[in-house]
Amino acid sequence: MAQPERVADTSVEQEKPRGSTPGLISRVRRSIWREPWPQDDRGRKRLILNDLILHLHAPTVPKRALQLTYSYGLGLLAVLLFAVLGFTGMLLVFVYTPTTDQAYASVLELRSQVWIGALVRNMHHWSGNLLLIASVLHLLRVFYTAAFHPPREFNWLLGLSLLLLVALSNFTGYLMPWDQLAYWATTISTSMLSYIPVVGESIREFFIGGPEVGEFTLRTFFAFHIAVLPPLMLIITSYHLWRVRKDSFSLPRALDEPPPNRRKLERVTTVPHLVNLEIGFGLLALVLLIAWSTWVDAPLENAANPAHPPNPAKAAWYFMGFQELLLHFHPAFVTVAIPGLAALGLLLLPYLDPDPRPEQDVVGIWFRSRRGRRLAALNLVLGVVVTAGWVVLDEYWLDLPALLPFLPTAVSNGFIPVGAMVGVLAVYYWWLRRRGITRSERNLALFTLLFMAFVTLTVVGVFFRGENMALVLPWNR
Ligand code: HEM
Repeated sequence: MAQPERVADTSVEQEKPRGSTPGLISRVRRSIWREPWPQDDRGRKRLILNDLILHLHAPTVPKRALQLTYSYGLGLLAVLLFAVLGFTGMLLVFVYTPTTDQAYASVLELRSQVWIGALVRNMHHWSGNLLLIASVLHLLRVFYTAAFHPPREFNWLLGLSLLLLVALSNFTGYLMPWDQLAYWATTISTSMLSYIPVVGESIREFFIGGPEVGEFTLRTFFAFHIAVLPPLMLIITSYHLWRVRKDSFSLPRALDEPPPNRRKLERVTTVPHLVNLEIGFGLLALVLLIAWSTWVDAPLENAANPAHPPNPAKAAWYFMGFQELLLHFHPAFVTVAIPGLAALGLLLLPYLDPDPRPEQDVVGIWFRSRRGRRLAALNLVLGVVVTAGWVVLDEYWLDLPALLPFLPTAVSNGFIPVGAMVGVLAVYYWWLRRRGITRSERNLALFTLLFMAFVTLTVVGVFFRGENMALVLPWNR
């Protein structure tokens, strides 16, 4: 196994003879870097870099871990975006004022009066959105390469909690500009809470601090946005990265290739091989983000007006899948049953998915197997087509509450359609099993189907809903 590069002994500062006292600069330096101080420039750079980087990474990594078409750098991108959000957010609080009569004006001031204020705001806005997208893509990468199988089950759970925090950070940040978009998106999203049976209204009022979104809501969301969620994310991200190191990074494998013997793998030193890749990728991402933020402004509508709701009033794009579901099912199922089942499935997945037989180890193989690839493609299409077809059917022809007027809507528009769907999925799963498809491949099929269904609902909600939330073509909106 190749050893980490070490600083050449000949170039290090020699110990001072006994009796002589080191100078102040030398003492400060030694208090930071305990190792002897190299005399040559290259050695000094290497010492400083190694000291920092080798706390994050192992000194050497398997060469095949550097394959960019495996991780696509998505975890790294998420880390970078989180750092950008922290930095730009820190600058924004110097100008932004979290009160209902000042917030909008302070954002306007930021855009037009403050040097590079618009760029900083744009970067903050786009990084937040991009972080959500990068986290979901990273989750998909981890899922489709089975990288959440043992020993990485717990890191999957940490990842899920990070995803929740990222969504909450975006959600609380959305209100900050206090424009029409922010006010009504938050009103719509928080009103979904009131559909939770029995306790819903109290939960909603607890979060927004009154009957409607107002001063208290803005102040509470601001506090969560800057003082609660970022430190939590920082702690969990650090833990997540530490676990990546402790659990070892999963390695890419070709179809039908047996699991690699880690002891026999070719290794390369982290510095410079991995670090160069990370720096290159990070710089490219940063340049693209700055270019995008220079040309594309973060949205800002007129100041919030609680008396004039827009038509249609929509939630933020990442909640539109739920808002779309509300048009089809009883609210209790949309706010409790469906997200509850989805969350439970995701939480249990790493404990239920892996097959204990060693010959069934699929970690590192994209889509598990040849058959897994076909199943993923088939269910991707199925998820889009069935969901889109069902949205149209439900919009124009199917009206269960009218067909079954003698039943409460919770039954006619909740238990019956949701129960029927769960039943169909269970039969599909059982049918796949009878055809000899492994558990992990069956889960992959179901996950793909449901994920694509949610993506389709989101796309319909964002692009195909016009006035009064009626279905329209995007170019006719
Ligand atoms: C803010 C959000 C997140 C950040 C900053 C983050 C960061 C990272 C980084 C840097 C890596 C190593 C490199 C890579 O795989 O690209 C990693 C690996 C991993 N992440 Fe995340 N992650 C986040 C969200 C998630 C989510 C949502 C999940 C899944 C639910 C997840 C599960 C995992 C797992 C299981 C690994 C190990 C992968 C392997 O060994 O192949 N992470 N993460």
